[in-house]
Amino acid sequence: MPSLETRKRPVAFLDSGIGGVPYLDRLREKLPRENYLYLADHKNFPYGEKSAEEVTASVLGAADSLMARHNPKMIILACNTASVSSLAVLRSRVSIPVVGVVPAVKPAAARSGERTIGVMATERTVNAPYLDGLIEQFAVGCRVVRVAAGDIVSFVENRLFLADREEQDRLIAPAVEEFRREKVDSIVLGCTHFTYLDDNIRALSRGNFIPVDSREGVANQAIRLLERDDMLCTEGEGRSLFYTTRAREDGYYRKVAEQYSLDFRGEISSVQGGAA
Ligand code: DGL
Repeated sequence: MPSLETRKRPVAFLDSGIGGVPYLDRLREKLPRENYLYLADHKNFPYGEKSAEEVTASVLGAADSLMARHNPKMIILACNTASVSSLAVLRSRVSIPVVGVVPAVKPAAARSGERTIGVMATERTVNAPYLDGLIEQFAVGCRVVRVAAGDIVSFVENRLFLADREEQDRLIAPAVEEFRREKVDSIVLGCTHFTYLDDNIRALSRGNFIPVDSREGVANQAIRLLERDDMLCTEGEGRSLFYTTRAREDGYYRKVAEQYSLDFRGEISSVQGGAA
């Protein structure tokens, strides 16, 4: 078995912003003594409005900083937009396991009695060939209603933690209404930012549909790979550090980090700053 020092290397989460935090939270519930590191690529937010090539360049830049500065033992690409565009390239770039987060089409289709599911995601994900592939493979015979909701991504990234429930509900109501009109009975939260709104969506759906995300599947896959490689750490400090690729003056990230018991560390040093 690798040494304790090797196993104490962090599991790193990467997203364009705060979307991946609930994913870290789910894995930490299962593995509380691991060390975690979260990187919000604020410098390149939002990924959802970029081309696939631009998303890949952003992901590789952020991953280089992670690798050079923090030597993680695993990367969880906690962003659907990044995963559907850049997972293969990132895997070929680093020598550690990379777990992707892709839209949970399979469980959503499996639950749909009406054979009509919704996918709520960014513009980039909604139009990604990767999503077409998931639908062809796992949602045969289902009608799929795709809704691009970049406005909800920015709301979560910049306002959610300052907004009351009424404001939150007002923002998501049009998307929920569209799904109700289309008579879907399960919807894929195909952007990690939307996992924060799971409760709101459930309540607003009035029992018509249930939101499905990938938190449980991703946490279980991370555990499987750590076990496979003998890299589980059950004797670590259980540290969770939050970094960003560009500092934000408004204190929002600090607030989110506190809410999720992450130690806010500010800007990650860039790779070109000198030795790691
Ligand atoms: N959180 C990201 C996702 O899962 C996207 C947010 C963005 O557009 O940057 O798709």
